[in-house]
Amino acid sequence: MNEMSKPAGATEEPLVIPIEAYVSESYARAENEKLWPKVWQIACRAEEIPKVGDYVTYDILDESIIIVRTAPDKIAAYYNVCQHRGRRLTEGNGQAKQFRCRFHGWCWNLEGENTFVLDPQDWGDHLTRERLRLKPVNVDTWGGWVWINMDPNCIPLKAYLAPAPAMLDMFELDKMRYRWRQWIYFPCNWKTALEAFNESYHTDGSHPQLTRYGSTRFWSRAENNCGWHGIAELRSRGARAGTGLGVVMAVEGQDPRVAAAEMQQELMDTVNATTTQTLIAAAKRLVDELPPGTPAEQVSAHMMMSAARDDAARGVIWPKLDPSRVAATGHDWHIFPNSIILHGPTFALCYRARPNGYDPNSCIFEVYVLERFPEGQEPKTAWVYEPNATEEKWRKILSQDFANMPQVQKGMKSRGYSGGRPSPVQEACVAHFHKLLSQYMGTGAPTPLD
Ligand code: FES
Ligand SMILES: [Fe+2]
Repeated sequence: MNEMSKPAGATEEPLVIPIEAYVSESYARAENEKLWPKVWQIACRAEEIPKVGDYVTYDILDESIIIVRTAPDKIAAYYNVCQHRGRRLTEGNGQAKQFRCRFHGWCWNLEGENTFVLDPQDWGDHLTRERLRLKPVNVDTWGGWVWINMDPNCIPLKAYLAPAPAMLDMFELDKMRYRWRQWIYFPCNWKTALEAFNESYHTDGSHPQLTRYGSTRFWSRAENNCGWHGIAELRSRGARAGTGLGVVMAVEGQDPRVAAAEMQQELMDTVNATTTQTLIAAAKRLVDELPPGTPAEQVSAHMMMSAARDDAARGVIWPKLDPSRVAATGHDWHIFPNSIILHGPTFALCYRARPNGYDPNSCIFEVYVLERFPEGQEPKTAWVYEPNATEEKWRKILSQDFANMPQVQKGMKSRGYSGGRPSPVQEACVAHFHKLLSQYMGTGAPTPLD
């Protein structure tokens, strides 16, 4: 790379991202051959299959995979197809002692071994155990998610995810549970949808109400299959025991005690995520517990400390966050290809986008919020389909993001557009995403912006 062409603070030279990946049907079809069968993907949360026999059906384009708990500490994944004449075995989620095909009644146990064929003598000795087995898919867990990979030669999950495990394990994402989850078919490409969430450079333009809480300038980094970013001011000030979205920044003319309380309440009201009721209560007490003029950094530290104490009293023990490493984790991680995690000490806001068939202008977009709960007090949740992309149904911040996505999808097709120009400083995750994608697809690599 030509160092001369790199702007200050940039990890990359300025690049142009070709539009083919967003708008081409043949590209969408090629993803089914070259991308989805090769990558580790989140299939579900482990909490969705707590008991032996609990299963989830994960569909990606024409492929369908059964994820099933086969023992208290073991999860298996199989292609969801009967080895007789190809009927799908499961749909959705459920509990099974065995998988029984509804066409001619062949059966498999949870280990994927065939246990019943009607009139097997018809085949002589040709139906071997091996031929009858459900075909396995690689499966592993990290962060409380169950990940699958269809490539028999794939690299191990932890290597694929690096450096996410090394940097994020301290947040104990595996101990978080669903608070809510909602999904929608969205009229844009799955990449267009994700890219509304793997950078925060759009805050000023799309969420102007959030700019009053401090700096909205961001850094971004990318490595291996991860791209992540955080608030520039926090990183330059070094480590602290808060995360990007939970901290209080000094803003001239503003009492940080009051601003902290307003911000936590606003986050709950407008995104229903990236904060908790414990944090809100702790933030609202700041004016009583701290004298006027307390610096923002101390306000933040006090809020976090008292929230951690309140949570501990109800049985939610905060993770031990290494302050010297927290700032470098930022607040938002894009894990290639299609998952985004905004992490916090006791919560996470997550997104997953998948293609909806081979229409490049349509995707399945899922939003879910995780939180730490006292053991036994986890709420019962299920996926809620919410087709109205309105503020009423998705709250203000998501509806602001949603307003952009179809407009980007439309705009990209214009003769007056020659490709994306993500900020080399703040949107490295966008460029990195397309570099990785082009390696799988053999086309569409970003080119230098002359
Ligand atoms: S297709 Fe499944 S038993 Fe025949
Ligand atoms: Fe946004």
